[in-house]
Amino acid sequence: MSGLFITFEGPEGAGKSTNLQYLADILSEAGAEPLLTREPGGTPIAEQIRALLLANHDEQMDDDAELLLMFAARAQHLNRVIRPALAAGRIVISDRFTDATYAYQGGGRGIDPERIAVLEGWVQGSLRPDLTLLFDVPVEVGLARAKARSTLDRFEQEERAFFDGVRNTYLRRAALAPDRYRVIDGSGSLASVQAALQPVAQWILEQWRA
Ligand code: TMP
Repeated sequence: MSGLFITFEGPEGAGKSTNLQYLADILSEAGAEPLLTREPGGTPIAEQIRALLLANHDEQMDDDAELLLMFAARAQHLNRVIRPALAAGRIVISDRFTDATYAYQGGGRGIDPERIAVLEGWVQGSLRPDLTLLFDVPVEVGLARAKARSTLDRFEQEERAFFDGVRNTYLRRAALAPDRYRVIDGSGSLASVQAALQPVAQWILEQWRA
């Protein structure tokens, strides 16, 4: 028995968290009871690593330290939560996963994607999401939403060029593997985004029941 692994991705303020809950509600009503989780985080230890990653520190965090902490949290989350749930046949929906590392540490910070791929292979083996929903919004729209929402974490305080790199990397990865990604226009109305999620939910249920 093997479940289904769905990830939600996108820059800040693209609406992924609201829509994750919406999709989860549809799946729950259909009897699928998805496991909802997030990265970095998803277990008590990984949530502590998240706090370290998002906090503003007097000391600048080294790019490699940041990358390795992302994968340390991921190893904990994957082995303690995601893999067991998939082995039990559940649908797992994670708010971010390794595409975010390619986008933020690769596209944003400028780390060579081949180095990220080494860690991906080490920590994940052959495990990849079955489906990734990429919520796309223009950088200025997403940042304005994030700023209106709360005080800015360490990533949200980055400069415009960083977020251009994040968005471009996400879009490039989606274009290279169109079977795995669905790109959803996060700048539209909530109703239009939710309408776009209906066929996705049906697809997930069909795959899960197959
Ligand atoms: P969130 O605000 O969507 O929960 O994500 C937390 C932040 O962590 C967000 O700014 C993106 C960043 N992040 C990375 O930089 N690399 C990663 O691999 C992940 C999972 C998140």
